[in-house]
Amino acid sequence: MMPDDDFFQESLSGISASYLGVLYRFSVILNSTLDLKKTLEYLTNAVRDLINAERCVIDLREECCGIKRETFNFSAEHIKDLSETILKKVYETGDSLRLIDAQSHEEFRKKKSIKRLGIRSVLAVPIKWADDVIGVIYVDNKNVINAFSPEEERLLEALANVASVAIRNSRDYANLRQSLTDYKSTLSKGFFYTEEFLVISDKMKKIVDQIERIKDKDWINVLLIGETGVGKEVVARAIHAKSGRKDKLFNAVNCPNLQEELFESHLFGFKKGAFTGASKDHKGKIYAAEGGTVFLDEIGDLSLTLQAKFLKVLETGEIEVIGANKPIKIDVRFISATNKDIEEMIEEGLFREDLYYRLAGYVIEIPPLRERKEEIIPLANLFLAKFSPGGVIKGFTPGAKEKLLQYDYPGNVRELRDVVKRAVVLTDSDYITEKDIIFGRRKRKKKISMEDNLSLKDLEKIHIMQILEKTGWNMTSAAQILGITRQTLRNKIREYNLEKFKESSEI
Ligand SMILES: Nc1ncnc2c1ncn2[C@@H]1O[C@H](COP(=O)(O)OP(=O)(O)OP(=O)(O)O)[C@@H](O)[C@H]1O
Ligand SMILES: [Mg+2]
Repeated sequence: MMPDDDFFQESLSGISASYLGVLYRFSVILNSTLDLKKTLEYLTNAVRDLINAERCVIDLREECCGIKRETFNFSAEHIKDLSETILKKVYETGDSLRLIDAQSHEEFRKKKSIKRLGIRSVLAVPIKWADDVIGVIYVDNKNVINAFSPEEERLLEALANVASVAIRNSRDYANLRQSLTDYKSTLSKGFFYTEEFLVISDKMKKIVDQIERIKDKDWINVLLIGETGVGKEVVARAIHAKSGRKDKLFNAVNCPNLQEELFESHLFGFKKGAFTGASKDHKGKIYAAEGGTVFLDEIGDLSLTLQAKFLKVLETGEIEVIGANKPIKIDVRFISATNKDIEEMIEEGLFREDLYYRLAGYVIEIPPLRERKEEIIPLANLFLAKFSPGGVIKGFTPGAKEKLLQYDYPGNVRELRDVVKRAVVLTDSDYITEKDIIFGRRKRKKKISMEDNLSLKDLEKIHIMQILEKTGWNMTSAAQILGITRQTLRNKIREYNLEKFKESSEI
């Protein structure tokens, strides 16, 4: 609410021209820089000129400003001696706090830091942006009781208002520069090999060299080996996109989903009238990819019966369409992928050696993400750009980046993508901070458990989001799984502001 004229009359009547001079100079000087540190330095100087304080701290919300705290007038090692309780109160209420004597104040005198430091006078005012408190200007005095007057409180508030605009401007400027530098450095270190395939590390550049070597020898079948989520499908698509087959289909077959009795109809297809219900010709996945590529995902999960069926296709180069009177020659390249140790499976009699040699004409082994850590931040930025609707979220705070770098990603790039997506859902600010980065720790087998410090609300938000994605935003099935009515689901979506993720959910 805007203060009225009486307010200004009453609270600023005692302010001398020299005070106004300081305020004026401060507002002018702020226009001369876009450097956040300088802005904060000017701000502290102005505070010093206006108010008789011993210490001054400008505390900023990390998620808003990218930096946490700037301390002036006292050295960095004393930073822990600040009363966090006072700051917290201002952040929570959005109101200024002026203590005449903290040592005898009902609420604060018991606080350890206030006792230990012997702080007497305190003045803390919020730096606001719209309804948000983005920071606090805090000053104190140890020896003097009642060191700060109500007029000084108003002055500091005026200063905070001017500073708020300047802080936001310099922060946005700094972030833009940072994004530009990040972008330049990403591009100087790496490149997009295809639209969806970012390559930064030497290890992945070697993979690209391998793709280059075989892309035109498209009679060679390729086997991709790598842990779950390393990017096997991305590489498979890249091989297809760079080969002479690029204008034909890339058809993916998920081997664990293949049913033995439907193998032929699913992969080869059938002729009209071949059986009851075959009302028209149907081309199966392999037949439809004629001239193109068939991607056999998770071949380690093929039963021995299906292995024999695939072997026949590879040996003869022919398929038997149901209802056709003779086999049909096909020209497709097979790229298969697995995260299993196929050679060990061969030794155990679980995988046919002859099929392996047919599929593994050329083998590419994709390294796990933890062995190419320099890709973590560029990939995280890429996913952020994809998931942040309208680019509302501008980046990661340094603390968040640090946290991303320290994890070892058993689920590799897919897991990093999911972590970024979850952070976008969870964050309330325009920067992703450390607390928004939540890893699913792997416990025994495949069970994933979330970090323990999530609130019930956050868990609910994440869970609803996951179910919506799983059901392709089908409200009826999502509500059914969640055990709530569609109306409740709709309310929750509104409450958590999830609607904006609908578009990016297909990625
Ligand atoms: N180098 C990369 N650049 C950009 N995105 C990538 C890269 N590698 C992987 N991704 C993304 O990570 C996710 C997982 O990749 P992909 O599906 O290719 O992995 P996968 O090895 O096939 O995983 P799975 O074993 O679970 O099938 C996808 O969303 C993909 O787009
Ligand atoms: Mg895959």
